[in-house]
Amino acid sequence: MKSLQGKLVMAFTLLVGSILAGLGIILSQLFPVYVEESVRSNAVGKIDEISLIVEQSNITLTGDQKDEITDVLSNDRSGSDFYDIRQQLWKVLLIVLLSAFAITIMLSYRLTKRYAQPIDNVTEVAIELAKGNFRARAYEDDSSTTAQLSTSINVLARNLQELFKVREMEKERLKTLIENMGSALMMIDRDGQISIVNKPFVDQFDFSAEEVQNQLFKSVGLPEELKKFIDYVFLMESSSRKQLTLEIQQELHHMEVYGAPVIGEHGRWLGVVIVMHDISDLVRLEQIRKDFVANVSHELRTPITSIKGFSETLIDGAMKDEKTLLSFLEIIYKESNRLQMLIEDLLELSKIEQHGFSVAFSKTNLREVMLRAAEMTSPRLDGKNMMFVSNMERDVVVDGDMNRLIQVVMNLLTNAITYSPENTSVHLSLHESDTHGIIIIRDEGIGMDKKEIPRIFERFYRIDRARSRNSGGTGLGLAIVKHLIDAHNGRIFVESEPGIGTQFKILIPKKQAT
Ligand SMILES: Nc1ncnc2c1ncn2[C@@H]1O[C@H](COP(=O)(O)OP(=O)(O)OP(=O)(O)O)[C@@H](O)[C@H]1O
Ligand SMILES: [Mg+2]
Repeated sequence: MKSLQGKLVMAFTLLVGSILAGLGIILSQLFPVYVEESVRSNAVGKIDEISLIVEQSNITLTGDQKDEITDVLSNDRSGSDFYDIRQQLWKVLLIVLLSAFAITIMLSYRLTKRYAQPIDNVTEVAIELAKGNFRARAYEDDSSTTAQLSTSINVLARNLQELFKVREMEKERLKTLIENMGSALMMIDRDGQISIVNKPFVDQFDFSAEEVQNQLFKSVGLPEELKKFIDYVFLMESSSRKQLTLEIQQELHHMEVYGAPVIGEHGRWLGVVIVMHDISDLVRLEQIRKDFVANVSHELRTPITSIKGFSETLIDGAMKDEKTLLSFLEIIYKESNRLQMLIEDLLELSKIEQHGFSVAFSKTNLREVMLRAAEMTSPRLDGKNMMFVSNMERDVVVDGDMNRLIQVVMNLLTNAITYSPENTSVHLSLHESDTHGIIIIRDEGIGMDKKEIPRIFERFYRIDRARSRNSGGTGLGLAIVKHLIDAHNGRIFVESEPGIGTQFKILIPKKQAT
């Protein structure tokens, strides 16, 4: 029995038991003597009575005769009589002792229950609290002598539960914050072991959290540059920020990395925390912006230089020769046309790229769109002795902007004609799925390398600059196409094989989500 009550009852039982047992032994030793003594005194009393009767009868007894009568009377109680009496006394003694024992046990149980049970209850609650079960409570019995103890332990339990709840909430909040902060985070303790990594970190490096947790940061396969940076933060014990280009899964990522020492209470140095932000998109956009400015200047400079050069030559006297004058003016006209085209394209693109640009959706028949675009590009097609092969038996109606879609298809058809040799065909087909209208434009032209495909939608991007410029393009056509398709919530896919041809596939939703 572990409880206090149990222990007390046990101790009391042992104590009372041993006292009663001792009493029993003593009494049992005294009983035979007492019985014999009482029989003997009884006999002596009787002798005196007999002597009185004998004396009244005038018979004189000698001392020996008296002793003889006493012996006879004493022995009158045979051994078996004594045995019976002792047995009876034993029984009575046993019953009395047992009853006394039972009564004292019962009393001790009741008493200890009253005083020790509340303490047992409080002890149990304290043990549960120590184990971390802050929901444990003690009985609060006002009449109990330990009521104050129970109340205090319950207040303590309530406070602990509240503290635990707050701590759990804060822990949860911190965890959510770390997991959803959008940047990769890693915490390394003083021994160089990784103690915390969040989901963006694990995703970025394609690790599993278990793989890196409690591992040395040098042994988990982080990029060398990053390891050097972490070493630097460890060495300097001061925060540091750096842009790193890291190779992660054969891909270069531009990372803004921030490292800071973690200082605990009393200025204890606990390790370092590293936060990484993938700025590859920003760097790429910045590069595109730089390229854009360079490209625009370059594109504008070429025709302007040419216009300036030819007009200077004319001014310098060449205009006197009518033939030269005409040919130079023609060049100037062509170049200014190119300039105009470029500026128009730029204006168009900037308009489409404006925030909030939207197209006017209405029921648009894609077949009509394709026929109109084909019609408008047919002079170019005829010029290269090419032909359209079309497969557009059925009308496909989508939610779209007729003019913008014609612009898209025209751009693609112009490219198909421009980047194909003479006497080839351009295949136009129209399909539909449950949700989308599908336009496919395939040429038998020069095609392009797989690695070029993701870049052709960038502004001014041209695969073979010299050749494309000769073709009169500005490199803005597909950028405009992409933006217009995005504005239709559609998608565009490109498949191409150098020397075989290129296929553009466009999906336009039949119903725009409102
Ligand atoms: N059908 C095609 N076959 C092969 N290459 C293509 C095709 N379409 C586009 N390209 C490549 O993609 C580049 C970008 O095309 P884009 O239409 O944006 O520019 P462009 O045709 O040069 O000029 P423009 O702005 O006048 O259309 C082209 O320069 C060309 O190298
Ligand atoms: Mg083009």
